[in-house]
Amino acid sequence: MKLSLAPLQGFTDLVFRRAFAKHIGGIDQFYTPFLILQNGDSLKSSHRREVDPNVEENLIPQFIGNSLKEFIFFRDYLIELGYSKMNWNLGCPFPMLAKKKKGSGLLPYPEMIEEILSDGLDDRIELSIKMRIGYESSEELETVLNVLNKFNLSEIIVHPRLGKQMYKGDVDLEAFGRVLILSKHPVIYNGDICNMEDYQQRLEQFPNLEQMMIGRGLLQDLFLPLKIKGEELPTAKERLALLEKLHGEIYDSYTSYLSGDTQLLSKLKPMWEYFSANFNNDRKVYKAIKKSGGMKKYNAAVAFAFQQGVKE
Ligand SMILES: Cc1cc2nc3c(=O)[nH]c(=O)nc-3n(C[C@H](O)[C@H](O)[C@H](O)COP(=O)(O)O)c2cc1C
Repeated sequence: MKLSLAPLQGFTDLVFRRAFAKHIGGIDQFYTPFLILQNGDSLKSSHRREVDPNVEENLIPQFIGNSLKEFIFFRDYLIELGYSKMNWNLGCPFPMLAKKKKGSGLLPYPEMIEEILSDGLDDRIELSIKMRIGYESSEELETVLNVLNKFNLSEIIVHPRLGKQMYKGDVDLEAFGRVLILSKHPVIYNGDICNMEDYQQRLEQFPNLEQMMIGRGLLQDLFLPLKIKGEELPTAKERLALLEKLHGEIYDSYTSYLSGDTQLLSKLKPMWEYFSANFNNDRKVYKAIKKSGGMKKYNAAVAFAFQQGVKE
């Protein structure tokens, strides 16, 4: 099974991806969180850093938007950097973007999707699409897939929830089954794979899947990809040491370009929303991190986390 890391804005940035690939591994394909153009024709410096072609392997940058001009700007920018693959986000449910017909908010407007694909595709760079099964209703699915089927796409990645659901409710596996029947493109499954049981259930239901994408489940168990791949796991002690290296590298990277403790803490603390689940007594760990008001307290909370040991 080929595995990719789902992009999570605020969590899976360059710093995390690089540290994860170096210390843990098991992921074949990485994606940037969505990148937005400023004034339609430039990338802000943190987003330029995200797509630096000299830093990471197997990275696919992700565009979000609904304007052909912006799509073409982003596409050409990536081609110039040497990328051969890009991804278009038709899945983001955040109301601020969806209301503006971006992300999953574009799914009810298949004619706009068609216009961008008709004039925006270019032989020099492959396009994949990451999408939900609709915004208001999964009845949107058929029309959208009919449009996508007219074009050459490398694959479609489907998180089978509606945009309006955000992250609530269950994934709609019946609708995902329809995608497999209706799409002429390779389909990647994404959504709620948090442990081996989830993975095996999906595979039993859809035995022809060749690739899955994992997000929150990976952050909560950083060794899940290695488990899925059936690789021999390091011992609990070794895993703890690897997590310590990963955290140390993330800490040092942010320290090198952020100024001041407030900025540093605003980057480091949120990752523990998921990262704490890797440790025993995870609730206590997360509480200690959340409460820590300065670097000294943060470092003490991190030491407490590592004293608890990793979960089996
Ligand atoms: C905090 C957060 C940020 C996200 N940011 C992005 C993003 O930038 N681009 C994107 O395509 N999906 C984004 N997603 C959606 C995930 O990539 C993924 O589709 C979703 O979490 C379901 O997969 P999972 O259950 O394995 O996490 C985000 C999800 C969360 C929870």
